[in-house]
Amino acid sequence: MKSNNGKVYIVGAGPGDPELISVKGLNVLKRADCVLYDFLSAPELLEHAKESAEKICVGKADGLHLKEQDETNSLLYEKSLIHKTVVRLKGGDPFIFSRGSEEAKYLREKKVDHEVIPGITSAIAGPESFGIPLTIKNKIQSVAIVTGRKKDKNAEIDAPDAGTLVYLMAVANIKNVVKALKKSGRKENIPCAFIEKATRKDTRIVRGTIGTIEEKVKKEKVKPPAVLVVGEAVGCEEK
Ligand SMILES: C[S@@+](CC[C@H](N)C(=O)[O-])C[C@H]1O[C@@H](n2cnc3c(N)ncnc32)[C@H](O)[C@@H]1O
Repeated sequence: MKSNNGKVYIVGAGPGDPELISVKGLNVLKRADCVLYDFLSAPELLEHAKESAEKICVGKADGLHLKEQDETNSLLYEKSLIHKTVVRLKGGDPFIFSRGSEEAKYLREKKVDHEVIPGITSAIAGPESFGIPLTIKNKIQSVAIVTGRKKDKNAEIDAPDAGTLVYLMAVANIKNVVKALKKSGRKENIPCAFIEKATRKDTRIVRGTIGTIEEKVKKEKVKPPAVLVVGEAVGCEEK
């Protein structure tokens, strides 16, 4: 790939605990001349960047705003023309319900040298941080990561046939998530849990069942970011 001046690294920041970034991700962050970060990447990570590094917040309250994404893409391109190392720091893994793949495609089309550095997704780290195993040998043989929110607010939410389901962006749309789970034939007494602010110091877990979780969200005032894990995995954790 023809290079402009610089190289862009699309880096997964990990789920929240700043120590959960990869060694490779941290190393490029330390030598970055410019960092474009979002709200979900741990703020402490920016302390690793050089003092002289340009630090730009490109966070979005609603990841479905296309115009804002265009602006981020353009910024990545512009910064690659003037800096040697540009880091695009994204919460969790940059390709899991994130726009990392679109950014990589844009950079490829613009012939900008780039590399993707994977991160630990909240979909896995959230349940695991409370000891919930997403798979169990000979018992839970599959796991699906599902969006709890679609661009078309009236669109049905998916509830694929998997042993464990992990929903991202499900808090505000919990009603429709539960509707989809029931429609899929799942029983109301199947356990589930919301993990809020996974791997941060103030993380918490709110447990329920398919039948009770909607009420629990209201009662316990669950707030994003939170992942919802559904299935017999909840309850199988090491006590
Ligand atoms: C736009 S998606 C980005 C997902 C991210 N790329 C990942 O791999 O974790 C945002 C959603 O990820 C989940 N999420 C991200 N960070 C989280 C955290 N620390 N705790 C719980 N959920 C989190 C929430 O469901 C949130 O609404």
